Order: sequence, then structure tokens, then C-alpha cells
Amino acid sequence: MVSDDHRHLLSILDLDREEIDDVLRDAATFAEIGTREIKKVPTLRGRTVVNLFYEDSTRTRVSFEVAAKRLSADVVNVSASASSVSKGESLKDTARTLLAMGADAIVLRHPSPGAPALLAGWVDACVVNAGDGAHEHPTQALLDLYTVRERFGRIEGLRLGIVGDVAHSRVARSAALGFRRMGADVVLVAPPTMVPLGVEVLDCEVSHDLDAIITSLDVVYLLRLQRERHREALIPSEREFVVGYGLTPARLELLAEDAAVMHAGPMNRGVEIASEIADGPQSVIQEQVEMGVAVRMAAIEALIGDKAPPANG
Ligand code: CP
Repeated sequence: MVSDDHRHLLSILDLDREEIDDVLRDAATFAEIGTREIKKVPTLRGRTVVNLFYEDSTRTRVSFEVAAKRLSADVVNVSASASSVSKGESLKDTARTLLAMGADAIVLRHPSPGAPALLAGWVDACVVNAGDGAHEHPTQALLDLYTVRERFGRIEGLRLGIVGDVAHSRVARSAALGFRRMGADVVLVAPPTMVPLGVEVLDCEVSHDLDAIITSLDVVYLLRLQRERHREALIPSEREFVVGYGLTPARLELLAEDAAVMHAGPMNRGVEIASEIADGPQSVIQEQVEMGVAVRMAAIEALIGDKAPPANG
């Protein structure tokens, strides 16, 4: 998790295979703490974690807050719409203000790809990318890896299909990179208009035909249609998208009985996934949310806990 002079988590590729294994192992310990009556350890007493969110979030923001509080850190939540950002203050000035108040880690969600990397160059604090535009969402990938390992006992050799609006999805990009790094086969399934330029760097198969490959999948990971990032019509209609790429009850019949169904949320029920499948026995969507806290505890501790390697080290 080292880049330049400070420790950061900007991309899932900041972690090698061994470091991902370490985070998943630590997350298992932290998950146990979540089952106790008093769900708190003193690990980060005296440290301050700032959640700086320039985009809406439910799961990520709340789970980072719960994670830091369970580690006994002081937590400050800053939402751009309710801060001086709405008066035109820049990211740099906002970050420096937060730093002056003693932030040890800044968890940043931002609509612009690369914003966390810029921030990391400006501040003397650890920066965690909580989602930057269509670029990356590394802690989502970590919790996805954790969820799959819990379900199957392994990641290596599994075949994961990531389905839908791949081009606009930071979840897809981080998951593809993370699962490939851990030895899974990944196939990106999307209409041609939703395959990102330069897809080759993700080292995944690409398919435009979900029905042709669904029987081979251990995991089917549905992506939200990112309508807010579409500058033009990419599909004839939502109905057409459902016909080709939605996980419908008819299509579920093709999926192996022990295969898992994933979605990072928020879901468009009835579009990328039928509501009854989202709530059904093959869905691990609720587990993904539950694992988010433990995995983020492990990631924050790895960055600013006592065992974290020193900056410049
Ligand atoms: N999965 C995810 O990033 O959800 P939120 O946008 O609610 O944080």
C-alpha cells in the first residue's frame, strides 16, 4: 500500500497477492469482533479518520464510519454538499483544512477519476480511494474477494462473470483486477457499447452473449446501469438491456445451482437483476454489505495502525 512518500490505497493493484491475503485474514478476525456484545477494540485510539464524500453513498460511507469507530478512531464525516465545497472551495484547500485538524487518514469518494491520487500528492495523511468516477473502488473489491472466499473457500480457479455496464463501473474495474490477481478467471459480459476502451489491460475474456457463458460461471456479478455517467444512449432501451443482460428467473435456470449471485448495490431491481433473485438463496448481496465493515477495518488498520509500515519505509 505504498505509493510515493505515504501509504495509500488508491487502486486494488496497490496490494500484491500476499497483502490481499493479509487483509482478508485480518478481516476474518475483525468479523468476529462484530459478533461480540461490545463491538469495539482500542486499535486506533487517538487516530482520526475523515470520510470526505463528494458523491452520494450509503454502504461505503456508513461502513467506513462503523469500521473506524469499531477500531476506536475519532471519525469526522464531511459531505461536499454540506461543506464549504458548495461555496467553491477546492479539493486541495478542503483537504489541507482537514489535515490541519489532525486527520491521519482521508477516505475520499469523488466523481473524477484520479482525484484520490491527486489528494495523496498533497497531504501528509493516508488516502483511501472510496470510489473515483468510473476508475476504481478498491475496498469494494476487497470485500467482494472476502465474500467469495467465504462462500467457496477459495478464489483461485473460480470463474467470475461481471455483467452489464462495465465501461462506467469502478466496481467492475477493481473486481476484475482483484480477482485476476488472486487467480480467478474473469469474463466481462456487456453490450459492445459498454465495453471500456483499453479493456485488454484488465486481462479478462470479453463476451457479448450472457446466455452462451452463464452455464460456465461460479459467480455472476451484476453491475448497476450507471445512467448518471451516460452522455448518450448506449442501449436501445432498458427493456432490451434486460433481455440481453439482466439476470431474470429464466436465465437463473441456466446458472449452476451452487453458483453465487453478487451485486455491489445500489441495485436497479427488475433491470440488471430480478428482485426475487436479489433476495433469493443464491444471492450473497447481503453478505457483501456485512463484510464491508470487517474488510474496511482491516484496510484502515493496515494503513494507520501500529503494524503499518512507516511512511517512506
Ligand atoms: N457499493 C457502493 O459503493 O455503494 P454506495 O454507493 O452506497 O457506497
